[in-house]
Formats: sequence, C-alpha cells, structure tokens
Amino acid sequence: METGEVLGRRALDACFLGPYGENDTLLEKLVTEFLRDHVYWRRNFHPEDPPAIPTRAAQHPDYQAFEARMRHELHALSASLKKSVPFHSPRYIGHMASDLLLPGLAAQMLTLPYNPNNVSEDAAPVTVEMEVRAGLQLARMFGYVDDPARADCAFGHLTSGGTLANYQALRLALSLKAFPVALRTACVPDIALPDDDWQAFSLAPVEAIELLARWQRWLAAQPPSARRQWQARVEAQRIETLGLAGFFDRHPPLRPPLVLAPVTAHYSWSKGMKLLGLGRAQLELLPERGMRLDADAMQATLERCLRERQPVLLAVAVLGTTEYGTVDPVDRVVDARDAMAARGLGFSVHVDAAWGGYLATLFRNPDGSLRTRAEVGGEFAAFPLPQVHAAFAALGRTDSITVDPHKLGYLPYGTGAFVCRDHRAMALLAEQADYVFDGEGANGYMARYRRLGQFIPEGSKSGAAAAAVYVTHRVLPLDHANFGRLPAQTIRAAEAFHARARGFAAEVAGMARACVPFMPDSNLVCLALNPAGNRDPARANAFVRALHDELRCDPGRPLQLKEFFGSITTLRPEALGAVEMQRIADELGLDPPAPGDDADRLVILRHTLMNPYLLDAENGISYIDRYFDFLAARVRGLLSAEGHATAARAA
Ligand SMILES: Cc1ncc(COP(=O)(O)O)c(C=O)c1O
Repeated sequence: METGEVLGRRALDACFLGPYGENDTLLEKLVTEFLRDHVYWRRNFHPEDPPAIPTRAAQHPDYQAFEARMRHELHALSASLKKSVPFHSPRYIGHMASDLLLPGLAAQMLTLPYNPNNVSEDAAPVTVEMEVRAGLQLARMFGYVDDPARADCAFGHLTSGGTLANYQALRLALSLKAFPVALRTACVPDIALPDDDWQAFSLAPVEAIELLARWQRWLAAQPPSARRQWQARVEAQRIETLGLAGFFDRHPPLRPPLVLAPVTAHYSWSKGMKLLGLGRAQLELLPERGMRLDADAMQATLERCLRERQPVLLAVAVLGTTEYGTVDPVDRVVDARDAMAARGLGFSVHVDAAWGGYLATLFRNPDGSLRTRAEVGGEFAAFPLPQVHAAFAALGRTDSITVDPHKLGYLPYGTGAFVCRDHRAMALLAEQADYVFDGEGANGYMARYRRLGQFIPEGSKSGAAAAAVYVTHRVLPLDHANFGRLPAQTIRAAEAFHARARGFAAEVAGMARACVPFMPDSNLVCLALNPAGNRDPARANAFVRALHDELRCDPGRPLQLKEFFGSITTLRPEALGAVEMQRIADELGLDPPAPGDDADRLVILRHTLMNPYLLDAENGISYIDRYFDFLAARVRGLLSAEGHATAARAA
C-alpha cells in the first residue's frame, strides 16, 4: 500500500483467518500459489539439471513407508495441537495473544521454504534488508528519524522477543556510557574530551553519540597504520574488553551504574541485569502512583544519585504494563533526563513498549505527523487520557524502544524488536569494530546493516519472521488510518468492557463487590472481586482463584467445555502503595492486605482485550456482555456452593 492510502472499512474482513476460519479459501489460495511459485523457482535455477529424485520414487515401498511414518507423526501432532489455546476466539481474553494477521502469516509461510538466515546478507540477500526496513517502519511509528540518508537516522532490528530487545537496550546503553571513558584513558588527541572520568561516564546519550562521531571522523582522517594503532588502543580500554571488574578497577571513583525501572517492570529487566553482569542489586525499582511510574519518586532518586555520585545507566518507562496495561509518564522521564544531564548526571531513557508499542499507530497520521489528543480521542469515549497522549507524543525523544510485533502486531512468535533513536551508537556494538564507517547516506546505511549479525545479540535468525513483519507493515502502514484500525477496535472493546464492568458490579452487588481497580490506559482491564460482607483478603483471594479455575487453560479438559479464557494477577501493597491499596480495599469492603500477612496481596482477574471480534457487529453479539453474564453466573454458583457447604457443616 502506498503512503497516504486509507484502508476501507470492510478491508478488515480480510485481515485474519477469522474465529470460524472464514478466510480459509484466501489463505489456501495464497499458500498453494506461493508454494508452486517456490517450486518453479527451484526448477528454474538450472533447468538443465535433471531431477535427482527419480519420478517413480513414490512407488517404492521404502518411500511409502517413510511417508506413512511421517503422516503418522504429523497426525499425532495435529491431534495434540487441538489442545492448544484458542487464541483466535473472542472467548479468549487471557494473555497477550490473538489471531494472526494474514499478510504476516502468509509472508512467513511463503518465505519458510527459502529458509533465509538473517545473520547477514550472504545467507539472506532479500530478507535482511526487509528486517532493516521493518526497523525503519517501527522508527517512524515512534517519531524517530527514519530517513537513512540522515546521519542521525534511527535503527531497529528484530529479536526473538521483548526480553531480548530489553537486553539489547542494556547492552547499548552500557557501551555508550563507558566509551567516552575509554577515549579519555587512551588519551585520544584533538577531539574535545570530558575533563574527568565521572563526567565522561555521565554524558547525556546525545553528547556521547556526538563524541563517538567526532572520534570516527578523526580516525578516518588518520593514515591506515595510525588508524589501526589508535583503534587498538581505544579497544583495549573499553568495558567490553576489560569486563565490568577490570573497567571499574581501572577507574576507582566510578561505580557500576543503576538501572531505574518501575516496580511494574517485566521480569526480563531482572534477567537482563544478571546476564550482563551488572547484578540484580543495580536494578532499582521505583514506586508507582495508580500503577504508573511515580515521576516525583524518580526525580528524588536521581537527586540522590547526583549527590552520591552514583552513575545511572538507564531509566526505563513502560508503555503498557504487562499486568495492568498502564502507561508510564514517558514525557516526564525524558524531561528528567534532559534536566539531569544539564546538571551532570547523564543517562539513557528506554521505553519498554513490548505490549503497548503498536498503539502508537493511533497517534500517527499517514504523513508521519503526530495527531492531537482531540483527533485521537474522536472515536473513543475517554481514550487517550491527557497523560497517555503526552507519553506517546514523547516517544520520539527517547533513546531506545522495545516493541513486540508478536503481541499487538498480531504476528507469529519470534518477532520482538529493538529500535534506537540514533543508529550511530550501534557502531559500539559491532563485533568487528567498524568505527570507520565509510559510506554515508542511504546506501551506506543499508550496506552496513546487511551485516546484521555484527550488531544483534543473536547469530542465526529467521528471515521468514522479518518478511512477515515487513510485509505486514507494507500492507497495513503504521498509522491510524491503516494498522491503527486494529488497536482502535481493541480500545473500543476495552472501553465497552470497562462500562460493562460497572453494570456487572451493580448486578452482583447483593452477592459480591466488584471494581475495576484502575482506569485502563490501554486495552488490558483488570477486575477485583470480593464476596459481600467478607473483610478477609485470604477469602477474597480464594474466591477469585476459584473463579479463575473456570477461566484458565486446562489441557486435561476438552476445550469445548470452556466458556471463556481469562488470566489473573495480583495487587501487592509494596507496588501499589498504602493509599492506593486502601482505596481499592475500601471499594471491595476488605481489610487491606499488608506485606508479611498470610494474604500479602490481592488476587484479581486480568483481561487482555486484543481479539478483533470481541464486539461482533455482523451477528450483533458482544462477547464482553456474554463474558460478564458468565461471570455473574459463576459468582452466584460459587457463593451458593459455599453457602451449602457452610450449612452442611453447621447441621
Ligand atoms: C512490558 C513487557 N516487556 C517485555 C516483555 C517480554 O516479552 P517477550 O515475552 O516477547 O520476551 C513482556 C511480555 O509480556 C512485556 O509485557
């Protein structure tokens, strides 16, 4: 699709295989056509080479026995896969999974037999460039510079998932932080260097990238032998060469830097700190207000770090928290970064938008410009709250972003993505130091990143996955008039869910108290419940767990016996804060759970509303209404069973 074209309303009908497999003929046509096409490609490579497998081979008993064995196992696989979770169904509102977009599924299936390996263009002459272009498509969605002819163009690549993209963010931020110190120690002449190690370790990311660019220009101007010597001299001082222990031994006033993240941050951050050797103790979890990062608490932490000369590596903001779908104040975090950099405490800002990243399409016009809050809000009841709009508007000012095409991008697993604002920083991750980047402009950019394996955490990786992402973004450009139509539906579903939850609370009021603990920022909505008259959090938790028993994946039971799929999470007083915990406990008529108690947290239901057919206009069905009817019946059933049990015990 060309930029500027708008998707017709009924075009969405062709986007997915569909809950009923409605688009089976379309998918079949695509698969057959492109499988044949692949076979002709094989034959046309050197048509003069005769078939190596004899034409009568299929009649041989060994062939037939092999085919039978293969069929047997494939039938067994197909049979067991019937126990899979029905992500495609609007009755699935559990975790972050749904139906797959047909362009991506077809592109992936079509590419698989070519088996490209995106580690480099030698193994993937076509799909490696698609991966780099997919990175630019995502960069544009976030408001980064996406023109490879510009020196400060962004760069993005795919990863196996959000977890690995978060590792890449840590790796890049650490490289960028420590590189100016290496330049100082190597005594590189003629380029203005920071006065001391603390200043070198505390540069703002923009300054560090500028310094790196100055060094690259200086190096390029040296004769080849001097260039090699200087390069080796700087390499010897880098944190990547010395390791953390060696580096900090050499620079005693410096300490390992902290990573600041909200308590709601995904556990991949803890894993990443361990993996990089920074240590889990260096991950400082900041408190929340209403499950959104408390920017004032972050400011207080930054002041302490500045006072104590404690370096900060990264401040992480989450755009769509895993458990609650809430959006952190990205704008306040980048403002804090700029203000603190001016006072001598530089650090990078990374946004973990693994979940909420594709919601950014709602905020983009087809020409790439940002939409106002009124424009975005035109089609919704309350979305986006002013602070949510401000957070999305600030994405272009951040240093790097994680986004998962395999979540709200509706693509097959194996597609996370890491995007950084200024690609020049990536030179620091190159496995073979390529400081002298001899190729400006778009061609140089593409030529460099076709050697993708140099820059990414993985080695061999799927080119088919890259084709899926690239083709999907071409069919559905990442703006509100195209791809944005999908997340728009999910936001409408979340608003309908929120409204219906209030009706449900009134409906079950005699039996139980129910509330949505936070105004949803996106399309993940939680529901807290407590049997009427109960004040004990342990009993409320047992009640919600019993409700969830009917909603959870249970491979031991036939799928068809399940009415709906949902998930659970918990509210912890340490994460929520005493005031918020009290507010929610009051709404539920509970004594608030407290750390150290038997029930030190509150179990709540969690619903991911990403299925495009939750509000089925064709048949006039709201699966959201049906879900709440089901839930009301379960509440009634559970409480009457409890009542009978109590009566039986008393008798
Ligand atoms: C906010 C956030 N970050 C990171 C991740 C990790 O992503 P993945 O499971 O793709 O590795 C998730 C997964 O749910 C997430 O919600």
